[in-house]
Amino acid sequence: MPSYKPQIPKIVDPSGVSPGLQARPMPVTSDQSRAYTAQTTGGKPMVDFEGTSNPYVDYQSIDLLLSLQHPRSEGYDEMCFFVMGQVKELLFKALHFELYNAQQQIRADAVDNALEILVRAKALVQYIGDSWNVLSTISPAGFNQFRDTLGTASGQLSFMYRHVEFILGNKNARLASAFRNMPHVWPALQSALTSPSLYDDVIAFLGRKGLAIDTGALQRDWSQAYVPNPSVEQAWMQVYANPVPGNALYRLGESLIALADQLSQYRWRHFVSVQRIIGMKPGTGGSAGVGWLQHVTEHRFFPELWAIRTSF
Ligand code: HEM
Repeated sequence: MPSYKPQIPKIVDPSGVSPGLQARPMPVTSDQSRAYTAQTTGGKPMVDFEGTSNPYVDYQSIDLLLSLQHPRSEGYDEMCFFVMGQVKELLFKALHFELYNAQQQIRADAVDNALEILVRAKALVQYIGDSWNVLSTISPAGFNQFRDTLGTASGQLSFMYRHVEFILGNKNARLASAFRNMPHVWPALQSALTSPSLYDDVIAFLGRKGLAIDTGALQRDWSQAYVPNPSVEQAWMQVYANPVPGNALYRLGESLIALADQLSQYRWRHFVSVQRIIGMKPGTGGSAGVGWLQHVTEHRFFPELWAIRTSF
């Protein structure tokens, strides 16, 4: 356990940060203007700026972003936990953006575009999984030093993660309902809960490609968790009968299973790291902890793509 106390260096004076949530105004440049600037600076980076900010800081509101880290304890490990939690929220957002756009491309029958996007989605999940390399350096004693200050906060209350689960098809009305008291968050999550997932759209796409899909898989209560459908398994079997790169549906199936594989590995790493840090203690969010997470690790996205591995 780190017995030493954290020293938090003061980097930004919060009184100078513009709290606005909108993109800050910035000039647009061009090849021509950049060439001119490089001429006037003699090739050295610019260092003189007007006002109280600079273009890099304004582009991504960096001073605001770096003013949002507020550990609540004297526990040394809390800063690491706090920053990694925020980093993961950003990465969940990046992942959701890709999945949402892959879904739009599938709806437009642009399977090659969706495949290109899914390459990045998979890379993002892998990257998110690697966050456990850092988080698992938190020892049980180190975690105990700040755990009480989490109150009943738990990653299970991440609405961004819930968006990721929902767009992939793992709908859960009960877990979603935790956000119904947040009018700035609930409408989008409720809409995600009650709309087709990416996988639902992939199934509709298989149907448009002439594969026989039951109407029960094409029109259903989207707020319910996806239940494997024999006609979908049969359709994938037909696709996998021609396992060549020229078969775009086959490539789509393999791309989805690679994504599902990474997601399962992410959940597994969370489960193992949690067991390493808190053992069999209950979670802060009200669950039994590791026991509940184990049940999560058993879930697989796109179940028919797993099932055909047996019958293939
Ligand atoms: C490093 C220490 C961590 C521990 C000991 C831990 C522990 C747990 C536990 C026990 C649960 C079950 C729900 C409950 O709290 O009762 C849970 C769920 C969850 N945690 Fe963590 N967690 C840790 C870090 C994180 C981080 C940094 C994130 C990312 C933001 C995260 C994301 C989640 C998510 C998304 C769930 C819900 C899983 C699902 O619904 O499938 N956890 N965590």
